[in-house]
Parts: sequence; structure tokens; C-alpha cells
Amino acid sequence: MTGPTEPNRAGRAEGAAPEGPHVPPYATVFARSHAFGVLAAVALPSTKDRVPEAVLARLDAREVEAARSLTGFDQVRWVGGRLAAHAAARHFGVRRWALLVGRQHEPVAPEGFAASISHKRTFAVALVSDTDARSVGVDLEDDVVAASRIAEAVLRPEERAALEELEEEDRARARLETFALKEAAFKALAVPLGRVLTFEDARVDFSSGRAELAMTVAGLACQPRVECRVERELGGVIAAVRAEIR
Ligand SMILES: CC(C)(COP(=O)(O)OP(=O)(O)OC[C@H]1O[C@@H](n2cnc3c(N)ncnc32)[C@H](O)[C@@H]1OP(=O)(O)O)[C@@H](O)C(=O)NCCC(=O)NCCS
Repeated sequence: MTGPTEPNRAGRAEGAAPEGPHVPPYATVFARSHAFGVLAAVALPSTKDRVPEAVLARLDAREVEAARSLTGFDQVRWVGGRLAAHAAARHFGVRRWALLVGRQHEPVAPEGFAASISHKRTFAVALVSDTDARSVGVDLEDDVVAASRIAEAVLRPEERAALEELEEEDRARARLETFALKEAAFKALAVPLGRVLTFEDARVDFSSGRAELAMTVAGLACQPRVECRVERELGGVIAAVRAEIR
């Protein structure tokens, strides 16, 4: 197995489609090394037409079967997420890859890997790690959610108080990052912990100058060890969490 491919001098990984508004539907926008593995993004079409057979042919037969059971944007987004995961897996030198579906709709990666998916209307992203000893979660959020009630509703009282100290623009960004990190934490941890996690079970702190995540899940003798990264990308933020249950 080889390591992740480094981006080329233009800042994109080899073979990636050019970034920007003209990336064709279902093309790879980027697939590059990330602190927790490889992060890849795929462009989604603006229409909910059925995914073309030539695109489905890029997936594993079991993935194609799952894709055929979906319709409209559900199918478009699902296929986009799987294609992003394939692009990430290729950077580990993996040729035969399938990201199956678990009982709680979580993505199930081949042995030795962990993976997570997120999609919005225009892009799907996948984070793939080459260890299954630690789980990963990824969440893509666009700026629209920053102003929405849901991003506000996920805050713990101390998070809300800390955000109120910030300038308006910084506050909106911190709120967006907090929301995305909690979604990513859910994806990394809900299934491995076998718990229904709530937004109160994670705390995001910006006092060091960058987002830091801690889990505070009630009733756990030992909290999961979590690390996080947030980047501004694809017109919004991509939050990534790596978790280890001790
Ligand atoms: C499951 C959930 C995280 C999905 O997030 P979303 O913003 O609606 O959608 P996204 O596009 O970002 O993510 C969708 C992907 O999440 C993944 N997912 C769904 N359920 C999952 C689960 N139980 N565990 C891990 N990943 C899951 C799937 O891969 C799905 O994509 P796919 O169906 O194409 O494979 C969200 O609906 C949810 O339930 N959030 C609760 C979060 C929460 O309580 N957080 C507090 C915990 S700290």
C-alpha cells in the first residue's frame, strides 16, 4: 500500500479536475493528503436526473445496487459521495474498493480503513483513513447554515457566551465551524460508541485561536480521544474529526 499522493505544484493532486465552476458533474475536484488520511471532493450536477450508467460503472457492483434503489438528488448525492471515497482510496493505491452501508446508514469501509461522507447541493466529500483503529467523521457546510437557527441551536451555553465576545463576522464563522465539527463528531462516534449523541455531548472551544473539540458524553467512564481540523473550502467549511475510543 502506498501513501497518499501529494498535490502537484499547482496545488491540486495529480489527475484532479480543475477547481471552479466548470468542473464537470461527477468529476474529482481534488483528492489530497489530509492530517487524518485523504480528503477528496467530487462535483455534483445541478439537476436530479438519474445518474448516467457510465458514471455508475465507476463504482463497485454492490454500490451500484444500492445506488439504483435511490432516486433524484438522493441518488446524485449518494453516488457523488461514493465517487469521492473511490478517489481518496486510489490515493492509498487501492484499486478494488467499496464503501457499503451500515445499519444506521453509516458508511462501512473495507477492513483496515475508516471513511466518512458529506454532501451539499454542489459537492460531495469523503475522508478516508488507512486505519480502522480510529474512526473519522467529515462534514461539509456552506455559509447559508451559519445564519440559520440550527447552527445556533447546537451551541452549549458556554459556547454561546464565548461566541458573543466575537465580532459579527468571526462569530458567524465560529458558529458554522462549531456546527460542522459536531456533525463530524457524530459521524465519527455515534456508531462506534453505540449511543445516540446530542449536540451537548461535544464542546468546541476557540480560545487557542483555532477550533478545538472535546467530547463530554454523559455516563462514559472514559471520553473518546478526538482531534479535529477545519478548513475553508468549496465555498464553505469542511470539518474533520478523528476519534479513538479508549
Ligand atoms: C447523520 C447526519 C450527521 C448526516 O448529516 P447531514 O448534514 O444531514 O448530511 P451529510 O451530507 O453531511 O452526511 C450524510 C452522510 O452521513 C453519513 N451517515 C449517516 N448516518 C451516519 C451515522 N449514523 N454514522 C456515521 N455516518 C453517518 C452517510 O455517509 C451519509 O451519506 P451517504 O448516505 O451518501 O453515505 C445528521 O443527519 C444527524 O443525524 N446529525 C445529528 C448530529 C448530532 O446529533 N450531533 C451531535 C453529536 S456531537
